[in-house]
Amino acid sequence: MRFDVFTLLPAVFPPYLESSILQRARQRGLIDVYLHNIRDWTHDRHHVTDDEPYAGGGGMVMKAEPIFEAVESVLGAPPACLLILLTPQGRVFDQRAAQELARHERLGLICGRYEGVDERIREHLVSDEISIGDYVLTGGELPALILIDALTRLIPGVLGDPDGAADDSHATGLLEYPHYTRPPEFRGWRVPDILLSGDHAKIAKWRREQSLLRTLERRPDLLAAASLLNADLKFLEEHGFKR
Ligand code: ADE
Repeated sequence: MRFDVFTLLPAVFPPYLESSILQRARQRGLIDVYLHNIRDWTHDRHHVTDDEPYAGGGGMVMKAEPIFEAVESVLGAPPACLLILLTPQGRVFDQRAAQELARHERLGLICGRYEGVDERIREHLVSDEISIGDYVLTGGELPALILIDALTRLIPGVLGDPDGAADDSHATGLLEYPHYTRPPEFRGWRVPDILLSGDHAKIAKWRREQSLLRTLERRPDLLAAASLLNADLKFLEEHGFKR
């Protein structure tokens, strides 16, 4: 999968892209991330990328011309792939959106800064707008990295375990069950006996129930959309869940 990132701060990306799983995915050719500095598409002496808003109001606005030029010279006109603007006004990113976007071969990502971008970029250039949550950051760079990270780990072969992403919190519509590793006892706190029992059917049932309980306690809002079996519903109802 190829990502083309349009940003005023390309330098913030490499430290993360060159670490751990993303680094390995890049080295193995499973992802490619191309960073494009929007400032390279300005033509004035001071390489200005922002300007005051028409009719006043606070802050500065990112100009349309350098962003259009950058995108069109890299992705063509119209852009040859889905082009996403990272903005707190976009649809909220979640695991389902990650799964859907991970099916694309190539994505363009525009990172906004300042108060926002000239509205003509939304209206006539991008195909999608994504927010990573209901809070406002100083720019779209961290959101772009979050999106790249969430999509990359869904690409087959990226995680060591082929089923690595299948049980993740949210992948099933539920929060994931608790994990433990050695030692079996730490400061008097024991790992649940069932996990040491070697009984795979019982362990699977325990994990499913823990997953259901956790979701019921912490994120009951998720249960409405989760795919639940009759046995799941029965278990949840025994623990106070009402349909
Ligand atoms: N830019 C600033 N805040 C943002 C957010 N929450 N999501 C995506 N892009 C942003």
